[in-house]
Amino acid sequence: MNDNYYFNIKKKRPEEIYKNASDYFKGETLNRYATSKSMIRIQERLTIRALELLNLQKKDALILDAGSGPGFAAMYLKERGYNTVTLDIITEFLNYYDIKDLNPITSDMCFPPFRSNTFDAIISISALQWVYRKLSNKIMQDLLTHLAKSFYIILKPRTKLVFQFYPKSKEVLDSISRIFLDVTKFTGNVIIDNPNSAKKRKVFLVLEKLD
Ligand SMILES: C[S@@+](CC[C@H](N)C(=O)[O-])C[C@H]1O[C@@H](n2cnc3c(N)ncnc32)[C@H](O)[C@@H]1O
Repeated sequence: MNDNYYFNIKKKRPEEIYKNASDYFKGETLNRYATSKSMIRIQERLTIRALELLNLQKKDALILDAGSGPGFAAMYLKERGYNTVTLDIITEFLNYYDIKDLNPITSDMCFPPFRSNTFDAIISISALQWVYRKLSNKIMQDLLTHLAKSFYIILKPRTKLVFQFYPKSKEVLDSISRIFLDVTKFTGNVIIDNPNSAKKRKVFLVLEKLD
C-alpha cells in the first residue's frame, strides 16, 4: 500500500460538529438515516466486507453489532444465519423497526453491559468515529481505553472484532490502533480498501483475541 496517500479530509463530518451522536441523530435526520435505501445498501456492503475479514467458522455465531443504529448490519447478519445483539446509545434507532429478534440494547458501547466471554465476534460499522476523533482529548482517550478493555473481556478467546469507521486523519487512525494494542492483548492491524481514493476509501481495524 502506498503510505503517501492523501488522508486528511477537509469536509467536516457530523461527529466534528455535534458533541454527541444523540445531538445529531434526532428528528428528521434520524428518520432520513433510518429510511435511506442507499444507506441500507452501503451499510450492507460494509457488513459483507467485515464478515470476510472476520472469517467466521461458526455458523450460528453470536455477534455484537456495536453502534447498530436501526440495525442494518444486524439485519443482514441475521439473514446469513447468525445470532446478534444490537447495541446503540439512541433508543429511538433501536425502536425504529421491530428488531426484537436482533436483541436490541440501549447502552454506551464504551460500557457494554455483558459478561466476559459472551461473543463469538463483534462488528461495528460507521460508529467508532463518534467515540474517538480528537488526538488531544483526554476524555475520548479514556472512553476508547474503556471500550477496548471491555470488548476484549466480552469476546470469547480466539475470536475477532472488526471496526469500520471514518478517522479524520492518519494520526487519529494510528492513535486508535495504538490504544487498542497498548491496553489489551489484542493482535491485529488496519486494512484500508481503496486507500488512494478519498471517496471510496474504507478503513477497517481487525483485532483478534488470542486466548
Ligand atoms: C452512522 S451510524 C451507523 C449505524 C449502523 N452501524 C449502520 O451501519 O447503519 C453511527 C451510530 O453509532 C451510534 N453511536 C455513537 N456513539 C455511540 C456510543 N458511544 N455507544 C453506542 N452507540 C453509539 C449512533 O447512535 C449511531 O446509531
